[in-house]
Amino acid sequence: MIFQPQLRIPGPAPLPERVVRAMSQPMIDHRGPEFAALLEEVVRGAKQVFGTQNDVIVMSSSGTGGLESAIVNLVTPGDRVLAAICGNFGERFAEMAAAYGAELIRHEVEWGQPVDPDDLRRLLASHPEVRLVLLTHNETSTGLTNDLEALVRVVREAGRLSVVDGVSSVSSMPVEVDRIGADVVVSGSQKGWMAPPGIAFAAVSQAAWEHSERSKGPRFYFDWAQHKKFAAKGATPWTPAVSVLFGVREGIRMLLEEGLDNAYARHRRCADAVAAGLQAMGFSLFAAEGYRSATVTAAVPQQDVDVKAYRKLLREKFGVVIAGGQGKLEGRLVRVGHLGYVTEGDMVQVLWGMEQALEELDIRANEGAGVSAAVASLNRAAVPA
Ligand SMILES: Cc1ncc(COP(=O)(O)O)c(C=O)c1O
Repeated sequence: MIFQPQLRIPGPAPLPERVVRAMSQPMIDHRGPEFAALLEEVVRGAKQVFGTQNDVIVMSSSGTGGLESAIVNLVTPGDRVLAAICGNFGERFAEMAAAYGAELIRHEVEWGQPVDPDDLRRLLASHPEVRLVLLTHNETSTGLTNDLEALVRVVREAGRLSVVDGVSSVSSMPVEVDRIGADVVVSGSQKGWMAPPGIAFAAVSQAAWEHSERSKGPRFYFDWAQHKKFAAKGATPWTPAVSVLFGVREGIRMLLEEGLDNAYARHRRCADAVAAGLQAMGFSLFAAEGYRSATVTAAVPQQDVDVKAYRKLLREKFGVVIAGGQGKLEGRLVRVGHLGYVTEGDMVQVLWGMEQALEELDIRANEGAGVSAAVASLNRAAVPA
């Protein structure tokens, strides 16, 4: 295909041309002044995006590495850790903690449903030994966004530390780390940051730092103390993904130029248009109403749709690349990503392709209904001047 496909998986997400160009630069000394300036701007911008004055640690890894950094710095083998699990990523976060010796208390919620703050409060009351609570803000596998503010409040009021997977939320929806009082929040560059995979961020509160100093888990590559020590000198402890950081800096510049609130509103408009369009085409949305994500929509097709064949047709004939289900949802649903470099017009194009592909599979899609519903949703939404 000579045209750029519509890459609409929930990350890695499309790259703006400005970001692509920013990465085409000769290499620099990662211990020199240009790198110090690069890191300083990335950290300063990331703090704005996270809404925090806390340290933001920049690591060269995918989002999973950022989450692993939280586990190795905070968990002493044998610690009791509460994991709130409402999908595949929550499950993985819990498994990771167990791999480092945490004794888990698993709070499992039906996939597609949010974690209930009252349930969390009760569980914490009956487990006074727990210090760390693992939360997923945006559960990318089910297209659901938990009420992070309410969950973090419960954790804080109970005097425990919140460790938040914000990989697919931070930069695409408000997180406001300091206002809500989250202790650790992790994100990854290939999501709403409009950059390629390769950089993870962790915003770390004072209480989390103190806990990390007391905890006895083995750590090396992701040792936050090393990162902090080197950051003070404008460097990272190990060779960083310099070219990706050029892209991250440009992505952050673009986000701040647009204005974070405008970027969040754009994501919401796209999500609502996709939700309306898919429902009009006969899909049912997987995540509970009121908790549907601004970055990814998970939808169950009509019964006779073979998801694998449908995605293949979409990709090959219509240039639209979407994701399938993960874990126990494999083959059961589709996931449309709308994060980072995405506009309302992209969503109309994606829905048109999705509708055409259904027609080709002889599945009744109420021709034109999906696109019409999406356009109607967009027309209702207030677009800022
Ligand atoms: C919520 C969530 N957590 C963790 C991850 C893992 O991040 P990565 O694939 O960058 O390691 C992802 C990636 O999709 C995610 O969406």
